[in-house]
Amino acid sequence: MPTTPSPPEPRSTVRTLLRLWPYVRPVRARLFSAAFIAVVASCIGLVIPLVLKWMVDGPIADRDPAGVWLGALYLLLLGLAEALLFGFRRWLVARPLSHVEAEMRAGLYRHLQRLPIAFHDRWPSGQLLSRATTDLMLLRMFLAFPLTFLLVNGVTILVGVIIMLVQDWMLGLVILIPAVPVMVTCVVFEKRYSGAARLAQDQVGDLTTVVEEGVLGIRIIKGFGRHRSQARAFRELAGKLRGTELHKARLLATILGVIVTLPELAIGAALVLGAVRVADGSLSAGTLVAFLSTALALRWPVDSIGFLLAMSQEAATATERYFEVMDAEPESSAAAGSRAAGATGVPPLERSRERGRVGAAAPRSAERRVQPPGESHDPAPTGHLPGPVGLRGRRDCPRSDGLVFHEVTFRYPDAPSDTAPVLDRIDLHIRPGESLALVGATGSGKTTLTALVPRLHEVTGGRITLDGTDITEMSREELRSRVAVAFEEPTLFSASVGENVLMGGGTGDEDLERALAVAQADFAHALPRGTDTQVGEQGLSLSGGQRQRLALARAVVGRPDFLVLDDPLSALDVHTEAAVEAALRRVLADTTALIVAHRPSTVLLADRVALLSGGRITAVGTHHELLRDNPEYAHLMSGAPAGNQEDDER
Ligand SMILES: Nc1ncnc2c1ncn2[C@@H]1O[C@H](COP(=O)(O)OP(=O)(O)O)[C@@H](O)[C@H]1O
Ligand SMILES: [Mg+2]
Repeated sequence: MPTTPSPPEPRSTVRTLLRLWPYVRPVRARLFSAAFIAVVASCIGLVIPLVLKWMVDGPIADRDPAGVWLGALYLLLLGLAEALLFGFRRWLVARPLSHVEAEMRAGLYRHLQRLPIAFHDRWPSGQLLSRATTDLMLLRMFLAFPLTFLLVNGVTILVGVIIMLVQDWMLGLVILIPAVPVMVTCVVFEKRYSGAARLAQDQVGDLTTVVEEGVLGIRIIKGFGRHRSQARAFRELAGKLRGTELHKARLLATILGVIVTLPELAIGAALVLGAVRVADGSLSAGTLVAFLSTALALRWPVDSIGFLLAMSQEAATATERYFEVMDAEPESSAAAGSRAAGATGVPPLERSRERGRVGAAAPRSAERRVQPPGESHDPAPTGHLPGPVGLRGRRDCPRSDGLVFHEVTFRYPDAPSDTAPVLDRIDLHIRPGESLALVGATGSGKTTLTALVPRLHEVTGGRITLDGTDITEMSREELRSRVAVAFEEPTLFSASVGENVLMGGGTGDEDLERALAVAQADFAHALPRGTDTQVGEQGLSLSGGQRQRLALARAVVGRPDFLVLDDPLSALDVHTEAAVEAALRRVLADTTALIVAHRPSTVLLADRVALLSGGRITAVGTHHELLRDNPEYAHLMSGAPAGNQEDDER
């Protein structure tokens, strides 16, 4: 399991939370009005003690029942106004804030889709999931509540303290004594709590990853009877999370203890002092009542500071975690490797616009075909051109046409720099309409090589051209619409069979039927609802071979110019494989194809074969030539029909 990317240095809570501003901006009017209303409502609450004072010193002292009733009516009206205003505030913010949450979530999802494979290789999915769910919920709650109430309570406390000082400055000073220790506690608390909050949220992410793996891998877990050890791993993580949560609770309990106890003591002291002064006549009873009820009205605003600070810390952590993903550089349209650095710092929107322009500027395929050759050398070790099949060889093509690898070097971004690159100065030329089989031992880099063509990874050195155009000069959209891929691991989505296949392009039933026929996926028609049958999550309700055939259909449905197949037939039985091959041969007749193959039968589909060994292309030729001249190739092929040679080694 990949580890959680390490959290950054300590940050300023306020500065972190300020990053939310772009998302909050659209609803700022409502948010500010709501805060204003809450301040007003809260201050109305502070008028109540003043009415009490008036009642005690006036009607009650004068024994005037009518005055008391009037006072009671005032109190009722004030209470009502306060309640209504708070209700109005809540109504005001509910809708815009769920909008903010939805926007942020959509933004995160969009960004995740555009992040390079290298990012997803590095990040455990549970970390991403928890950011998209728990963290965003924390943020919505923060915007709805602590953000407003830190302000409201701050203002309320200030106004309340001023009222108390005006009533009686001596008692007011007594009440203020705990202010300094409370503030110090808050600062210390904030620092500690921030660390604990970060840890807890990261642990939620790890836990999510374990749950996800446990669910997706349920077959393996059951098959190997691993449910106990899996449960133990889960329990351990859950226990860790529980420990962190308890630590958070302890911190919160400490600050609450201080925040509640000290002011309470101060109120007690003020009560005693005030009572003595009322007794000796230097203070009116009404003033004491007003003073104490103001102090009591401030209890909630003060007590809540602990919770509000805790929630703000959690929100800051959530913001930080959110932006860790959002700040990751998406796939740029700029060139590969070091050249990609040029795109850093451009806001995503700008970049996608830029990409649009590059796409528009790229010549359409018809023009590209007549382009003069951009390269002066033919990098492919010269094997002979096979006899014309279909369109092949009909065109008098420049030598840079087709799919060409020019001195392509590749190293995985997280590989130590002292290790040899996975691919080392690969030169390959697949001519238009030609299909080339790529053969090599397990781990020789075949999958890696195929992933470079649709730019799932960026080459570290050298370049790849399609009909003479460097793939880094096309927009990814254009590149990926021209290159279709099918991988070893055929991933399907929770959608119907038809939708899964048409994901590869194509427009309607006709294309769908054709693609299903090529991939020998007629079984789709026999499914309960034909091609409308929903395949379960990841297509697990289908057999491996069925999934592979649907993935193959998806690759050919859009009639791509270039087809990249990473061992697409490995799970098929011999008869089905032969039928798929016959159909593929017709498709491949006018498609330029790179096919990773293990079995001689798949290799025979191709016009030529390239052998990948030690990160280099060590031989190119026809199957029979290589079989005759290259011992390594002969050895790789001798295990036929061992298409599962790879599984044995893993
Ligand atoms: N995402 C990755 N990050 C780092 N190394 C990888 C990654 N994927 C594959 N590799 C390494 O690259 C090498 C080639 O892998 P791969 O292209 O999958 O081989 P093949 O498809 O020929 O079996 C292997 O040594 C593998 O460990
Ligand atoms: Mg592979």
